[in-house]
Amino acid sequence: MSARKIIIDTDPGQDDAVAILLALASPEDLDLLGVTCVAGNVPLELTSKNARIVCEAAGRTDVPVYAGSAAPLARPLITAEHVHGQTGLDGPDLWEPAMPLADGHGVDFIIDTLRSHEPGTVSLCTLGPLTNIAAALSTAPDIIPRVQEIVMMGGAYFEVGNITPAAEFNIYVDPEAAESVFKSGVPVTVMPLDVTHKVLATKPRVEAIRALDTRVGHFTAEMLDFFERFDVEKYGSEGGPLHDPCVIAWLLKPELFSGRHVNVEIETASELTLGMTVADWWGVTNRKPNALFIGDADADGFFTLLTERLARL
Ligand code: BDR
Ligand code: CA
Repeated sequence: MSARKIIIDTDPGQDDAVAILLALASPEDLDLLGVTCVAGNVPLELTSKNARIVCEAAGRTDVPVYAGSAAPLARPLITAEHVHGQTGLDGPDLWEPAMPLADGHGVDFIIDTLRSHEPGTVSLCTLGPLTNIAAALSTAPDIIPRVQEIVMMGGAYFEVGNITPAAEFNIYVDPEAAESVFKSGVPVTVMPLDVTHKVLATKPRVEAIRALDTRVGHFTAEMLDFFERFDVEKYGSEGGPLHDPCVIAWLLKPELFSGRHVNVEIETASELTLGMTVADWWGVTNRKPNALFIGDADADGFFTLLTERLARL
């Protein structure tokens, strides 16, 4: 089988960075056509710089990295330096990337790529707020039936929220964008906090990555050393949750995950619960399922896969 074509839309972020590395380490499975950056964890200038640093760390400067939307569709940007540090990628010593941004806007790249490939052959992997994706779908609705699938990190049902008591960060930052994506009719697979909070970068798992003793192994371990602090303090967990890499791991080994096809609606009006992903997990409405909502993962299997793949870079 040929490699599945993907675009990664992202706001790196240490966990975004690990997701990009996992994709770059898996060329026989995933053909990464490009990376589009969005404002989220930190402003766009930093996310689009960080994505290039990650590609350079992996020696993959051939992958085009585009800057996309600098702000959510209808709201001011909310960032998460308190989780990711001032750079968004705190941990390792960072450098000024030599690789330039690709010419053009990330949203145009998404539209052009979907139009120039056979329908149903390009998937969108979204690791940040959904601004770029919603902008692409509304500017060029002809691409909607051409998207193979959107695999997203976002939302929560049982875990409810991480940026507010009711909402997960990626959805909360741009709830209008999320709403339009869930209503678009594109097949969506969701990696909510319910599953990502089970995929913890514990000390032994981080040490196994460091022990690869490669540039990427050290770079990843140093990012995870920083990233774990916040969640360990907040949740008392044994390590930071590797949210975004779940998206890529799902494409590589879906058997590591399980979930349900459910209806997911996004709260865009209430101040109290803005950005909540109202998932009908228990099937108590007759609203039509619009997403595969993942709930569980084989965390050991995930880290075995991640460590084996990172060893290749
Ligand atoms: C999501 O928000 C960001 O902080 C992470 O990169 C992840 O995409 C988790 O809520
Ligand atoms: Ca992210």
